[in-house]
Amino acid sequence: MKTIIVCASVSHGNTRRVADSMAQVLGAKVVSPEQADLAELADADLVGFGSGVFYSRLHSHLTDFVKALPAGRGRAFVFATSGLPDIPFAPFTRPLVQLLESKGFEVDGSFSCRAFDTWTPFKLVGGINKQRPNDGDLAAARAFAERLRDGRGPAS
Ligand SMILES: Cc1cc2nc3c(=O)[nH]c(=O)nc-3n(C[C@H](O)[C@H](O)[C@H](O)COP(=O)(O)O)c2cc1C
Repeated sequence: MKTIIVCASVSHGNTRRVADSMAQVLGAKVVSPEQADLAELADADLVGFGSGVFYSRLHSHLTDFVKALPAGRGRAFVFATSGLPDIPFAPFTRPLVQLLESKGFEVDGSFSCRAFDTWTPFKLVGGINKQRPNDGDLAAARAFAERLRDGRGPAS
């Protein structure tokens, strides 16, 4: 199964660590939105899209990249890291899931975990979630990827 993960990880590399864990399981190539090759994406069986959360949204490098994608078909998944807990009734990943679906992707699931955050209010105390993503977060990311790899229903 050919898998590409498009990851914008600009703050601490938190989301990249999650992407790399998923990539190990999926045998995926991880690229930034700037490095992504549209022909390669169109040829992939599964495409992942992930970033940190900034002012309650996924990073604009990632969302602008998806907005510019031509309509297509294929399986996708979305993932995020954030300083604050995700919101169950309005997950950080939802707008990108909806955008991908509007482009014709079948979104198989989404994943998020908390991560080191030095956003201004937290900078004063040296940041929060200093050890995250931790081993448990990365194990959860791998388990999510295993469900995608094995086709064991929607992963979320
Ligand atoms: C300027 C800025 C704004 C942020 N805004 C939010 C936010 O609104 N909600 C949240 O949960 N985390 C927020 N964060 C924390 C990041 O989402 C978190 O550190 C994330 O793991 C960064 O991912 P990266 O290292 O892969 O870029 C913010 C961080 C920065 C630096």
